[in-house]
Amino acid sequence: MKERNFIINPSLLACDFLHLEKSLAEAEGAGVPMLHADVMDGVYVPNISFGFDIIERICSVVTIPVDVHMMTVAPEKYLERLRDAGACSVTVHSDLGDRDRIAGILKDIRSLGMKAAVALKPAFGAECVKDLIPLCDMVLVMTVEPGFGGQRFMEHMLPKIASVRRMADRENPKMSVQVDGGINVSNIGSCAVAGADNFVVGTSFFRSGDLTLAASELKEAAEASVGSITLTEEP
Ligand code: DX5
Ligand code: ZN
Repeated sequence: MKERNFIINPSLLACDFLHLEKSLAEAEGAGVPMLHADVMDGVYVPNISFGFDIIERICSVVTIPVDVHMMTVAPEKYLERLRDAGACSVTVHSDLGDRDRIAGILKDIRSLGMKAAVALKPAFGAECVKDLIPLCDMVLVMTVEPGFGGQRFMEHMLPKIASVRRMADRENPKMSVQVDGGINVSNIGSCAVAGADNFVVGTSFFRSGDLTLAASELKEAAEASVGSITLTEEP
C-alpha cells in the first residue's frame, strides 16, 4: 500500500498585497504546510509579479517553507539570491533550454541546499522531463498557461499528471508531483487520483473568505478521492 501526504500550497499571487503580513499570518494560521511564491519577469510570461526583496520579507515572517516558482527566462542568475532570501524550493520551466541546461540548474539548486523542481507548461508532455526525474524533488504540471491567477483548470492535463507520477514511481518514488492553476474543491480530487500530491491553490484559497475551512475542505476532497491510499501526517 502506498503512502501519500497531500500538501495544500497557497499561491501568494492571490493574497492581499496591501496587507501582506496579515495575509501570511492568516494563511499560516490555516494550517497549511507551505506557501507558493510566483516570480514573473514579464518576458517568459506576459506578467510581472514580485521579486527577491519581497520573498525575503515573506520568508522572514513565516515559519513554513516557501516554494518559489520561477517564470523567468534566466532563473540561474538568481539561485543564490533565492537561497539567501530563504526559499526552500525552486521550480524552473522545462522549455528554457536543452536538457543539459535544465539539468545544470537543477543540480545547482540542490547544491545550494534547496529542493529542485521542473515545471511543464500545458504544451509540453511528460517525456520532456523524463531524463530529469532523478534530479528533481518535484515536477510541476501546470494546469493553466502560466502568468496569471484565476484561470480555468485544464482537465486534459490529468493524463500528463498520471504519466509523470508513473515515471517517478519507477525512477524516484519520493518525488512529489505538483499541480498549479485553477485548482479548487471540485477538481483537486481528480488531480489526486491522477497522482498529484502537492496542490498550489491561489484564488480558491485566498478568496474563499475562510482560509482554515478552505484548507481543510481542499485536503479532505483530495483524501476522499483516493480512499484506499494510506495517508501520513504532515512532516
Ligand atoms: C500561474 C501561477 C499560479 C497561480 C495559481 O502562473 O503559477 O501559481 O497563482 O492561481 P490560481 O489558483 O488562482 O489559478
Ligand atoms: Zn505558480
